[in-house]
Amino acid sequence: KKEISIGLLGLGTVGEGVAKILHQHQQDLRHKLGAEAAIKKVLIKNRKKERMAVLDPAVFTTDIDEILNDSSLDIIVEVMGGIEGAKEAIEKALKAGKQVVTANKDVMAEFGPELLKLADEQKCDLFYEASVAGGVPIIRTLEDGLASDRITSLMGIVNGTTNFILTKMKKENMTYEAALAEATRLGYAEADPSADVDGLDAARKMVILSSLAFSTVVHLDDVLVRGMKEIRDGDLELAEKFGYTMKMVGSSKKNDEGIEVAVEPIFLPDSHPLAAVNNEFNAVYIHGDAVGETMLYGPGAGSLPTATSVVSDIIAACRNLQLGVNGKRAHAAQHERVIKPDNS
Ligand code: NDP
Ligand code: HSE
Repeated sequence: KKEISIGLLGLGTVGEGVAKILHQHQQDLRHKLGAEAAIKKVLIKNRKKERMAVLDPAVFTTDIDEILNDSSLDIIVEVMGGIEGAKEAIEKALKAGKQVVTANKDVMAEFGPELLKLADEQKCDLFYEASVAGGVPIIRTLEDGLASDRITSLMGIVNGTTNFILTKMKKENMTYEAALAEATRLGYAEADPSADVDGLDAARKMVILSSLAFSTVVHLDDVLVRGMKEIRDGDLELAEKFGYTMKMVGSSKKNDEGIEVAVEPIFLPDSHPLAAVNNEFNAVYIHGDAVGETMLYGPGAGSLPTATSVVSDIIAACRNLQLGVNGKRAHAAQHERVIKPDNS
């Protein structure tokens, strides 16, 4: 194919970043793909919003079916957010034989196994690198880079908003409210930021990571979730006084009994590598039998960093299309017991 046609569902923080990268890196992408990747249709909700000049106004639509029923599109990129509507769109796209890319951890944490199975049945790919840790290629690392190893534990800062808030409160004396407002202004927070601050967003990401790391199916209900409300007045200062830093940390470990997954605010010694991860940055610290310890670090939220992962998925989807090997990814069957950690 000389041209790969893309239908973009959503042109917000992430969607704009995707359109920008596809435009600015057009020439490099042409060389990498041997084809032109072109955005042909874009779903938006509000026609009155000012849009990027690089997109032809004719591509915009408020009718999702106009995109999902368009047989000329090769790849559907879902960056609209939400659960039911997004899941339905992904399903429809896969059933229509499209390659699909999503940044939606809400959908992937809840319906990932079902959608990946559908993708396999339809001989399509469903890529979701941006769903965890924005611009950090953690999904591919777990799927491919560390495929040879037996992972025993993961520990990570996987929510940019809460890490940004804790950093600003500690280092700039900002109030919680002001820091959350700034994270929202910068496009880091979810449409409903309670998902960030209550730990649900991080829990969803830990579901995705744990399922990949341990080749199993972890459910959201299996995760112990404690949000920022558990942090009491004075905790940040107390931590600092004794050489610790308060961080919202996701952990997932395998022992003789099974797998335990949790998200909670914890005191980390300042010497711990995760204690130095600040602002909207994320990091995932992995322990494997053979590799020992390894850590991935980078921007966990924001327009261009997240779009980097989405566009890399678009490239992977294009390559598979060009090679005719789409839908050949192997997916895990459940073979590990998952136990919810003790809530005490
Ligand atoms: P935004 O709210 O900034 O953008 C959403 C876009 O989708 C907007 O363009 C909106 O239209 C459009 N949209 C939403 N619902 C509808 C609908 N029902 N019909 C038509 N258009 C619709 O979200 P983000 O870009 O921040 O996030 C998108 C996804 O990426 C989410 O799943 C999020 O969790 C995930 N994500 C976000 C990250 C970030 O840093 N922001 C990082 C990693 C993942 P309109 O412009 O008209 O309002
Ligand atoms: N709201 C999310 C965060 C966006 O702050 O990490 C990236 O997934």
